[in-house]
Amino acid sequence: MQTLLTDSAEEAASFLNSGGVVAFPTETVYGLGAGICYPEAITQIFRAKGRPGDNPLIVHIYSLEQLAEVASDINPDAGKLIDCFFPGPLTLVLKKNPAVPDTVTGGLDTVGVRCPSNPVAREFLRLSASPVAAPSANLSGLPSATSWEAVYHDLNGKIDCLLRGTPSAIGLESTIVDCSGSIPVLLRAGAITLEQLQSVVPELSANRNLNTLSPPKCPGLKYPHYAPKAAVVLLEAHTTQAVGCSSAYIGLSSPPEGVSLVRLCRDTEEYGRELFSFFRHCDAQGIDTIYCELPSSKGLGRAIRDRLMRAAGKK
Ligand code: TXA
Ligand code: MG
Repeated sequence: MQTLLTDSAEEAASFLNSGGVVAFPTETVYGLGAGICYPEAITQIFRAKGRPGDNPLIVHIYSLEQLAEVASDINPDAGKLIDCFFPGPLTLVLKKNPAVPDTVTGGLDTVGVRCPSNPVAREFLRLSASPVAAPSANLSGLPSATSWEAVYHDLNGKIDCLLRGTPSAIGLESTIVDCSGSIPVLLRAGAITLEQLQSVVPELSANRNLNTLSPPKCPGLKYPHYAPKAAVVLLEAHTTQAVGCSSAYIGLSSPPEGVSLVRLCRDTEEYGRELFSFFRHCDAQGIDTIYCELPSSKGLGRAIRDRLMRAAGKK
């Protein structure tokens, strides 16, 4: 398959509207989209990524009118979160409408819905004839793609079209909140922080044992995630141990002695934005071990810690 590179949201949407699979930029990470009414294209997403079929896809919408097409029983807490954070880096798990095929939701009776804020994503979604099912646009298990070049590296020849945009402003996948039960639960930390969510819905809780629930609340969390080829080693702040030569470091405080590649970040925003692209850069450079500073779990630090723990195989 030939993958067409384009800067035109209109051209990308025309591929989607004729049943194609299209990668597109969002403010979190790049997505790999298909119209929800094209079963072949949905299957192709799973095939291109090497993704297990029971791992549901997030449905991306342009407007709140489209929300009513895909979800029902939207409770008052979900309504408040939508008012405050849509469009933006938040996914809500809601009761699904029959219009959403089981292949999209992995057979669940809920659907993850997100309305991105990135202007190119919005233009693409506006021109799409239906809501767009899209996981992150990377090979399953690898770090998410935060630039069009990273998408190209993983998926060239496996998808119909790649809509080029700027590097992702946030660099970490959306916050996911399950609003299908009586009390909203944080399923995946992201740029909309737990503190921000609780300022709108104080009873919202962070679920600690997601992997052990049956059926799993967030099926994707049981699979290995975000891992570069290099070993990921987690460090508390200001570790000064000496390390081997083919090693790299990313974090907020000074690196251990002897690392050959260093990405020092000014704040957690920069750390989140750079993390996955740094992992990919390290793999391209043949780095053996990436030392990563664990930030505190306040604010965006919670999402970074989550991705680091998963990349290190500790979650
Ligand atoms: O920022 C993002 O969320 C990006 C962009 C492209 O929107 N998408 C993304 O998709 O990260 P993906 O497929 O890589 O991660 C989605 C996660 C998976 O862990 C999946 O299991 C979970 O969301 N998910 C999707 N639908 C769900 C549902 N109905 N109930 C529980 N978890 C769900
Ligand atoms: Mg993903």
